[in-house]
Amino acid sequence: MTPAGMVPSRARFRSQRTSQFTESVIREMTRLAIQHHAVNLAQGFPDFSAPEEIKRAAQDAIAADFNQYAITWGAKPFREAIAAKYRKWYGMDVDPEREITVCCGATEGMIAALLAVTNPGDEIIIFEPYYENYGPDALLCDAQRKLVRLSPPDWSFDPDELRRAFSSTTKAIILNSPNNPTGKVFTRAELQIIANLCQEFDALAITDEIYEHIVYEGASHIPIATLPGMRERTVLVNSMSKTYSVTGWRVGFVLAAPDLTDSIRKVHDFLTVGAAAPLQQAGVVALSLPDSYYKKLSVEYQKRRDLLSHRLMQAGFRCFCPKGAYYIMTDISAFGFSDDVSFVRHMIESVGVAAVPGSSFFSDSNAGSSIIRFCFCKKYETLEEAGVRLRRI
Ligand SMILES: Cc1ncc(COP(=O)(O)O)c(C=O)c1O
Repeated sequence: MTPAGMVPSRARFRSQRTSQFTESVIREMTRLAIQHHAVNLAQGFPDFSAPEEIKRAAQDAIAADFNQYAITWGAKPFREAIAAKYRKWYGMDVDPEREITVCCGATEGMIAALLAVTNPGDEIIIFEPYYENYGPDALLCDAQRKLVRLSPPDWSFDPDELRRAFSSTTKAIILNSPNNPTGKVFTRAELQIIANLCQEFDALAITDEIYEHIVYEGASHIPIATLPGMRERTVLVNSMSKTYSVTGWRVGFVLAAPDLTDSIRKVHDFLTVGAAAPLQQAGVVALSLPDSYYKKLSVEYQKRRDLLSHRLMQAGFRCFCPKGAYYIMTDISAFGFSDDVSFVRHMIESVGVAAVPGSSFFSDSNAGSSIIRFCFCKKYETLEEAGVRLRRI
């Protein structure tokens, strides 16, 4: 019942913060793909099996009754496995007791980190095009985004533009390398430029490193935290999702200095309490896999990359060859469509292959209107089937 004289309106129940962004375009494309039975090269999840030993470890953990809340910031053996992996791979000393927060995927890790370190009005620098979550993440924190362009074909940035983006109100820069959607792997020299600016302007680097092991042709992932002076000012976000092909498990983690971890743990505790307890046990097995696992992962992904880019080029796309992660950005200018969204709709409805419109990676939709993104974290037969369908464009 509406009190007398009041106009009924539901708008008052919609918070301002949620009215500033739309639902995920990528997940919308997935729904459309299902509706039209299209091959889904939109959303970045594997359609092949996760490693057997990890699946078995998860089943064993449930059978062994790891079914109640783990410690809110993560089961001790899992945090210890994370610390051991960072020591082995990057020579980093991470204290599992005071510097690790296990959370529900990198998604929660990123928003928990941002909520923990920002105040309303703080500025966050983001390289554009960017993984779409960072936009809503900044809005949910009432932080202001400052965008710095990555330019094709190699997605380099202009150091002067980056410098101009930094100011005394900069709280952090979000750094995603290997990068979604561009496939860029930031070089040591680029990371050094970013590190210098973080130190000069007293800002944090909040990194999203979930594609750390998916790199090609000798490119290597360097956590910016390993650069001189950056260990204390880096919040490193990572996850099991991509490295172990378990995007549905929702297990991620955040590494940060103890004072930052204190704040992140508080946010995490009240957001989600904790990540799935049995899957953290399986995480111990996953993070202890031999080096050969990671080698095979990148070799297999490189083969998939080469297969899909070949098929895309045969179909008339111009491909920007990725150095890491599992996406290919393509230029669609040659097809004569007015914009990326109508082209992707045509692709889903008439060609039977789903991709993501480039505009969803830019704040100004015109900027991405001649680009679309395909993912190749799929079985070879799925990619071949997409290749056959792409001939219909
Ligand atoms: C750059 C990036 N960060 C985070 C995520 C989500 O990670 P998680 O599944 O760990 O939440 C994705 C998923 O595609 C991604 O591409």
